[in-house]
Amino acid sequence: MNLILMGLPGAGKGTQAEKIVEKYQIPHISTGDMFRLAIKEGTELGKKAKGFMDQGELVPDEVTIGIVRERLSKADCAKGFLLDGFPRTIAQAEALENLLTDMNQTIDYVLHVDVPKDQLVERLTGRRICPTCGATYHVVYNPPKQEGICDRDGSALMQRDDDKPATVTKRLEVNLEQTEPMLDFYQDKGYLVTINGAKDINQVFEDIDDKLGDLA
Ligand code: AP5
Ligand code: ZN
Repeated sequence: MNLILMGLPGAGKGTQAEKIVEKYQIPHISTGDMFRLAIKEGTELGKKAKGFMDQGELVPDEVTIGIVRERLSKADCAKGFLLDGFPRTIAQAEALENLLTDMNQTIDYVLHVDVPKDQLVERLTGRRICPTCGATYHVVYNPPKQEGICDRDGSALMQRDDDKPATVTKRLEVNLEQTEPMLDFYQDKGYLVTINGAKDINQVFEDIDDKLGDLA
């Protein structure tokens, strides 16, 4: 099962990705998570990505395509994969087509999680993440059992640097501009499936899961 999850910042890609990979046992490839890990570890990649992410800009295509190429070449991707937040530009989408051709693979679905723009700011500014296990919460829509504490491991939850209001606005602008052409690109190829992401978290997953049942 080869899947792409698309959607504006805050649409719920990471939240749904956690559920999809748990059920279908495929690797979760999130370029945002890969960049955040690189920043935390202080690697060269992290140094390259940090400035762009802090400004709400996209990391340059050649850097992003390079890390995805390397990740898709790992053995665990032979059984399928879920790409989350990649591709995000037409150049990335074209590079992915070439990579998949080399791997003798194709995309099954591009799942576009669609949420009205006015809900995204609230989702992003209310998001809290666990620095230990990466779990995502929301202060209103998906709160932990104990305020500010991860349910799984008791770590203190944090806010992502790019979830501060000024950066959120910029991220939404940048991504809005990039998203329309990507939707057309995948619509023309017949891969696009639009999922209503404005329902509650479990209902959105049920809709995705129904669609994935077509592949079983
Ligand atoms: P990335 O980490 O991919 O961020 P993003 O696309 O901005 O998406 P988010 O992680 O913010 O949102 P999400 O859709 O995963 O939402 P979530 O499930 O957390 O990228 C970060 C940066 O890295 C980019 O800005 C860029 O600089 C760089 N980058 C990454 N990929 C790149 C690429 N391909 N090219 C170039 N640069 C790249 O949910 C959000 C909140 O809402 C949570 O609190 C959650 O609990 C809540 N929530 C989720 N679903 C629901 C629901 N149904 N109802 C109510 N609340 C919900
Ligand atoms: Zn945790």
